[in-house]
Amino acid sequence: MRDLRARLDALAARDQRRELRSTHGVDLTSNDYLGLSTHPRIRDALIDALTRGAPHGGTGSRLLSGQHAAWSDLEARFAAWQGADAALYFATGFGANTGLIASLAQPDDVIVSDALNHASLIDGARLSRAERVIVPHGDVHAVDAALTARPGRNAWVVIESLHSMEGDEPALLPYVEVCERHGARLIVDDAHATGLDGPQGQGLVVRDGLRERVFASVHTCGKALGQSGAFVVGSQDLIDWLVNAARPFIFSTAPAPFLAAGLHAAIDVVSSDPELRARPRALADRLRNGLRGRVDTGRSTGPIVPLIVGTNAAALALQSKLATRGWDARAIRPPTVAEGASRVRVVMRAPLTEAQVDSLVGDVCAAI
Ligand SMILES: Cc1ncc(COP(=O)(O)O)c(C=O)c1O
Repeated sequence: MRDLRARLDALAARDQRRELRSTHGVDLTSNDYLGLSTHPRIRDALIDALTRGAPHGGTGSRLLSGQHAAWSDLEARFAAWQGADAALYFATGFGANTGLIASLAQPDDVIVSDALNHASLIDGARLSRAERVIVPHGDVHAVDAALTARPGRNAWVVIESLHSMEGDEPALLPYVEVCERHGARLIVDDAHATGLDGPQGQGLVVRDGLRERVFASVHTCGKALGQSGAFVVGSQDLIDWLVNAARPFIFSTAPAPFLAAGLHAAIDVVSSDPELRARPRALADRLRNGLRGRVDTGRSTGPIVPLIVGTNAAALALQSKLATRGWDARAIRPPTVAEGASRVRVVMRAPLTEAQVDSLVGDVCAAI
């Protein structure tokens, strides 16, 4: 116990100790980009599914009693929406990423991984025991160099599309081209673009017309789709392999079948409402314009706007000053971001108004 207390004290001394806090004030922190987590159409779909007798328990692994037509039907629909052969639903995006990467890459393989990749992508690579080469964020030339230095190796390149903490979106096509040149396979975590970008909200892989040229993409449902879980999308062989080898899929209770109805409704909503989907980006542009020259928003271009202040203490101070003005925006500190790059991460969500964004600009400028 003393050992744990000492570790917690060390975190506190670095302004890095975390606590669980419920949301207070205007939500600038959630990834509920479109407000779908409380959307009436989705709620009604879930209630209707329960009323019609869809189970509210998963009962066992999908490989045992947890298999249900509700999931296979939803996976087929998601794959069609994505223009792909097949899709597999995982109960969490974390499990999708770890299961995907750890089950694909073999110990003799090489994984070229962006330095700012999400923890789930990092842990998947670690679990695979493949050689890991970490390249600077967004640096496709470094990917090229890493692959050039390892000719003949079975290689995987792993990136995020719209980045979860930086809010930037490195162009995908150059990654595809480099991978094709080296015979490497590209895995794109499209978590933060799913439900927002693309002709019907399918994400950046589809928006950029790269479905056929990306080996696998991951689409979380806990962000713009307002629910939870994630789909891995790719070839039928990929999905068949995951059913046989992805440990978070195999050794975990299936999600409750009634939840599939909510995901159908979420896809209906995002596919049919381009104005709603465009709103977070428009509000983020307005926020960045207002803050230009006053606050470092890094390379962000999408709905995630980091207010980069450097130290942990500065990020915590900004968080609490904003809280006193009624905003719930959270400090993000190492190890989630690099040392010295602590920030308050602001998420622009469709339910916010232009007037709120303008008053946020004023409050941030006053607090900085
Ligand atoms: C880029 C990225 N990938 C994966 C995940 C994990 O998804 P989930 O929250 O569904 O476990 C997240 C969210 O935390 C994320 O930001």
